[in-house]
Amino acid sequence: MMTNHPLDLAGIGIGPFNLSLAAHLDAAEGVEALFFERRAAFDWHPGMMLPDVTLQTSFLKDLVSATHPSSPWTFLSFLVAKKRFYDFLNADFGAIPRQEFAQYLAWAAQGLPTLRFGTGIDAVDFDGRCFVLRSGTREQRARNIALGVGLKPALPSFAARLREDDHFHSSQARFRLGACAGKRVAVIGGGQSGAEILLHLLNRSKEDAPSQIAWISQRPNFLPLDETPFTNELFTPPYVESFRDLPEPRRHAIVEREKLAGDGVSSETLAAIYRRLYVLRHLESSGPEIELLPHRDVVNAEPREGSYQLIMRNGMDGMMEIGHAEIVILATGYRYELPDCLAPLSSRIAVDRTGRPVPDADFAIAWDGPDTNRIFALNAGLISHGIAEPQLSLMAWRGAVIANALLGRRQFEVEIPSAMVNWRRPVHADPRLDTLRSNGAARLAPH
Ligand SMILES: Cc1cc2nc3c(=O)[nH]c(=O)nc-3n(C[C@H](O)[C@H](O)[C@H](O)COP(=O)(O)OP(=O)(O)OC[C@H]3O[C@@H](n4cnc5c(N)ncnc54)[C@H](O)[C@@H]3O)c2cc1C
Ligand SMILES: NC(=O)c1ccc[n+]([C@@H]2O[C@H](COP(=O)([O-])OP(=O)(O)OC[C@H]3O[C@@H](n4cnc5c(N)ncnc54)[C@H](OP(=O)(O)O)[C@@H]3O)[C@@H](O)[C@H]2O)c1
Repeated sequence: MMTNHPLDLAGIGIGPFNLSLAAHLDAAEGVEALFFERRAAFDWHPGMMLPDVTLQTSFLKDLVSATHPSSPWTFLSFLVAKKRFYDFLNADFGAIPRQEFAQYLAWAAQGLPTLRFGTGIDAVDFDGRCFVLRSGTREQRARNIALGVGLKPALPSFAARLREDDHFHSSQARFRLGACAGKRVAVIGGGQSGAEILLHLLNRSKEDAPSQIAWISQRPNFLPLDETPFTNELFTPPYVESFRDLPEPRRHAIVEREKLAGDGVSSETLAAIYRRLYVLRHLESSGPEIELLPHRDVVNAEPREGSYQLIMRNGMDGMMEIGHAEIVILATGYRYELPDCLAPLSSRIAVDRTGRPVPDADFAIAWDGPDTNRIFALNAGLISHGIAEPQLSLMAWRGAVIANALLGRRQFEVEIPSAMVNWRRPVHADPRLDTLRSNGAARLAPH
């Protein structure tokens, strides 16, 4: 249901990130907000909810705990409400089931009064005073908007050449994996999605299993997520603070270098895959034929008599190779794109050289409208805020920063604590530095 008067904030999309913002605003007086979601109910990446998958993050990095621990929408409140607090403790999960975190998010979504499901936003325009959101024939005005529409599947250009029935992106896996029975299957992508899909296929019963599986990854090996303590420092507000005002080319380079801190494969998943391969190879001598192909960039797929020839460049020896598959699973990741509904405003929004909008410290993106009408963008700041941006780790912090910006006061705890690691020294006016810089020297001897 929409309202006749303008809201202070309209949220577009209800994934975890806008849900966190809604949970913060639930505790605040003075902001009238509604959030709109095209799905009929909250559902967290349903196409990747395969059996036994686990969360890659601590359950304490929930919607609110980091910034508003007395909120009723913490993960611990959910455990208590569902009467599973003691069972949960006794289960002593290393990593909790993703199903459980999805249930927690859905429970919060059911309880928050400002969420409207089954309401896709088709277009957003600006009438000079307010944003005008259109959903079918209905309209809603709002002074500010929060884009929480998530990322889009990143598809290689050759995907356009594949028949609809023969391929799917990992985001559809749960609904499409049935088509793999008895077929030659290529899983392209060496991130967590590709790894989980491979493990699932290896665990299928003989009748449902593919006849062959190739696991292909552009990365030089099937590489692990780095979850060691100093790498986890990258997922903290002080690191974001140090990162944010670096020049853009430097931020691009750092994000690329830090990729495995966010996008590597959990060590547990890699170990489970290896053990399953061992069993199939040495103990059962059955199951699909398996080929592991790291360091291969799939550059093309050509239809050949009911199957595809996959053309790959081997990054190890530089040679071209050919593979064959009847079903191609594209676990090739996700990319940020301004949502289609923003098309009426797209010429007014500034973008960087990769086409991304440019979020400021409050996560409001640069556009040519009045400063009093802000477009907050969640999950858009990989290059502006760093690799924590698409992950759950700083979701509560970002929700609190945006809520504070809307409220015009510091209601939620967002103060940047002093960092364990000294990422950057403050820039001092020191004539010796100027001399060294002009000489191209990198280091300054201590006093
Ligand atoms: C399978 C998977 C597992 C992940 N697991 C972890 C993890 O364990 N730890 C971690 O830190 N990160 C994880 N991530 C990364 C990240 O936390 C999630 O992608 C997270 O869901 C991002 O939240 P979001 O709110 O930005 O987007 P989404 O969850 O994608 O939600 C966006 C919502 O917006 C809706 N929408 C889009 N357009 C419109 C519109 N025009 N009108 C109305 N509604 C619209 C969509 O229907 C969707 O419901 C995972 C990612 C994937 C793909
Ligand atoms: N259980 C969970 O918690 C869970 C489950 C799934 C996903 N996630 C998270 O969701 C995010 C996305 O993960 P994801 O696995 O979907 O995407 P991803 O991490 O971006 O992985 C995509 C993979 O596809 C490869 N690739 C892309 N194009 C290719 C081509 N043409 N040929 C060969 N390889 C190609 C990429 O190689 P390059 O890296 O070299 O480009 C990369 O290995 C990650 O942060 C992940 O941790 C979490």
